[in-house]
Amino acid sequence: MLTDLINISKDAGSIIREGFGKNNAVEFKTDEGNLVTEIDKKTEKTIIDFIKKSYPNDSILAEEGGNNKGTSENLWVIDPLDGTTNFTHGLPLFAVSIGVIRSKDIIAGVVYDVMNDIVYSAEKGSGAFANDKKIYVSKNNIIGRSLLATGFPYNVKENPENTFEKFSAVTKSARAVRRLGSAALDICHVAKGIYDGFWEVNLNPWDVCAGMIISKEAGGIVSDFRGNEIDIYSKQILVTNGKVTNCLIDLLSNN
Ligand code: IPD
Ligand code: CA
Ligand code: CA
Repeated sequence: MLTDLINISKDAGSIIREGFGKNNAVEFKTDEGNLVTEIDKKTEKTIIDFIKKSYPNDSILAEEGGNNKGTSENLWVIDPLDGTTNFTHGLPLFAVSIGVIRSKDIIAGVVYDVMNDIVYSAEKGSGAFANDKKIYVSKNNIIGRSLLATGFPYNVKENPENTFEKFSAVTKSARAVRRLGSAALDICHVAKGIYDGFWEVNLNPWDVCAGMIISKEAGGIVSDFRGNEIDIYSKQILVTNGKVTNCLIDLLSNN
C-alpha cells in the first residue's frame, strides 16, 4: 500500500507542479481568506479515481468533498493540496497529504513536498522516511534553542483559543517561530528534525492524518496542548521532538 501511496502522491504532485504559476480559477470557500482552486479539485479527483479503481471497498474522506462510504475497514484521508494560499500566490511551499486509517489506527501516510520533490512517508512500525532516507526528530531539549512552527486557522480573526497570546508567549521563549502555511509540511519538518515542535488549532483530519504517523514513526510525540493523546479530529495539535514537550505544554496551556 505504501508504494501506491507514494506513486499516487507523486502523480498528484505533477498536476500541481504543472499548474503552479498559471492563472488558475480560484473560488472562495467561506471568505476571501479561504481559497480553493481548480488544481485542488483536479488533484483530488485523480487521487480518488485511483482509490476507487484499486481499493474499491475503501472509504474516503477528502477535503474538497470527494467522500465515499465503503465496506472495508480502511479510510483514506486526503488533502489534495495543503498550502493553497501559498500555491495561489506563487510561494512554492505546498504538499499533497494522504493518510490511511484502519479501524481507528493510522497505518500509513505520505506527504509529498511538491516543489522540492521530497516524499515523506511512514508505515506503522517501520520508521519514517524522506525519499529513501530514514528521518528522526531533533535531540534539542532547550526551548531557547528551539526552532518552532505554527499556523493560523481560517477563523483566526476570531482569535480562537487565544491564538495570538499563545504565539506571543512561545515566540518570547523560543529561538524563533515560523509560520509557512502548510501544516502537513510543518509536521514533516518536525519529523525531519528541522523544527523542534509545531502547534496549531482547528486543523482538519486531512491536514494532520499523514503527518501524525510520519512524525510518530520519526520518534515525535503528538498530543493536545495538555499532553493528552489525540486523534485526527482533535481541534488542538502539538507535535514535538519529545524533549521540549513539557515546556511547550506549559506555554500553550497557560496562555
Ligand atoms: C491550510 C494549511 C495552513 C493552515 C490552515 C490549513 P489548506 O490548509 O495547512 O498551514 O494554517 O489552517 O487550513 O487550506 O491550504 O489545505
Ligand atoms: Ca490543508
Ligand atoms: Ca487543501
